[in-house]
Amino acid sequence: MKLWQGRFKKDVDSRVNDFNSSISFDGRMYRQDITGSIAHATMLGECGIIEKSESDKIVAALTEILSDIEDGKQEFSVDAEDIHMNIETILTSRIGDTGKRLHTARSRNDQVALDIRMYLLDEIKVIKKRVLELLAAISDKAKLHTDTVMAGYTHLQRAQPVTFAHYILAYAQMLMRDYDRLCDTERRTAVMPLGSGALASTTYPINRERVAELLGFPKVTENSIDGVSDRDFVLELSSDLSLLMMHMSRFSEEIILWCSSEFGFIELDDAFSTGSSIMPQKKNPDVAELVRGKTGRVYGDMMALYSMMKSLPLAYNKDMQEDKEAIFDAIDNTLICLEVFTSMFATMTVRADRLRRAAAQGFINATDLADYLVKKGMPFRDAYKVSGTLVAYCIDNSKTLEELSVSELRDVCEIFDEDVYEAIDLMNCVNGRKVRGGPAKESVLYQIEIVDRFLEENK
Ligand code: ARG
Repeated sequence: MKLWQGRFKKDVDSRVNDFNSSISFDGRMYRQDITGSIAHATMLGECGIIEKSESDKIVAALTEILSDIEDGKQEFSVDAEDIHMNIETILTSRIGDTGKRLHTARSRNDQVALDIRMYLLDEIKVIKKRVLELLAAISDKAKLHTDTVMAGYTHLQRAQPVTFAHYILAYAQMLMRDYDRLCDTERRTAVMPLGSGALASTTYPINRERVAELLGFPKVTENSIDGVSDRDFVLELSSDLSLLMMHMSRFSEEIILWCSSEFGFIELDDAFSTGSSIMPQKKNPDVAELVRGKTGRVYGDMMALYSMMKSLPLAYNKDMQEDKEAIFDAIDNTLICLEVFTSMFATMTVRADRLRRAAAQGFINATDLADYLVKKGMPFRDAYKVSGTLVAYCIDNSKTLEELSVSELRDVCEIFDEDVYEAIDLMNCVNGRKVRGGPAKESVLYQIEIVDRFLEENK
């Protein structure tokens, strides 16, 4: 029998029953639903809308139901449609008529809006913690590699010298912004919608601020139609997660390239690599590939959410029930990616020798060679041309810039002197870039300090 049966002359078609039911996926919000109902019942009792004794009885029974669910002693039913009606049905089966008073001054529309906000707030906390763990792993590794010189790339072509620490700290910056975005979303999600009713609030003298206080919400929604209509906070979180995944996906792509024999910049720990069923020599970066793959899936969830909401008239529409599977999938996959990626990253070995060798072969000090001439008075555009001519000469003669003799250099430009070798030494090139945000050791140590301070402040 349906809680909403009164107006109907026929039972619902069994296919509609299953089609309509969301318990298979919204059942995971049981804790939020019960906690919200406890706050609502408490407030109803305090405001004299139901008897205090009834409110106490409801709260006690809900508390018991919660622990029974957690102990695996209470099952849900598809016929009760969703988590809200399941809990109410169980409550009424346990305490009879008193249970039927819980839904006074409330609708499932404001109830589901509350539950999903509470659920997302709980999950955002966990995601933030995982982001901090990844940041800590980056900081730890960066500290080991402030002197590990490597080529930075543009167009995937060796460009200019940096250090491995500087390189991975770029990702730390991205992740700190991702963290900030989650905090923003958290702030806009922490607004309490209960009291909006179905859409037009209620005539009962409820105390919405009290419910907010009981649930730890700093604010209440200010328009009852908005309170039940929008899911912008769900879309916002899905966008945050898409961005976070995009960053992890780029990082994964680099790790996939770096552990190939062609690069050989890193080696993944055996525990975070996989073998091939046919090729005995293979050691594959499946973890990084899956993170890259799952990024597409999280984007898909985001697109599903934006498309689902785009033409809905106010206020509640059943379409909105579709928000849950998409956002749950995005959250679940982001969480697992963060967790596995962090361990894979923390356990990988950086091959400083290979990084240095690749850096030495790429003429990545060609800009510094030009800058050397500029510092001796030549205009940059002319110096650029001299350096380019020397690079072409090196390519023709299979040499690196530092292998050229002073006389070879002077054949192209007379300004060159013995001090050029110091100017184009890779480590000197790196450490000369001491500007704020640069790859020099002192600038990188400051970057590490920023990350460590961020970790400390958000502990
Ligand atoms: N299961 C529904 C959802 O997730 C709850 C709200 C249903 N309200 C309604 N009037 N049908 O959106």
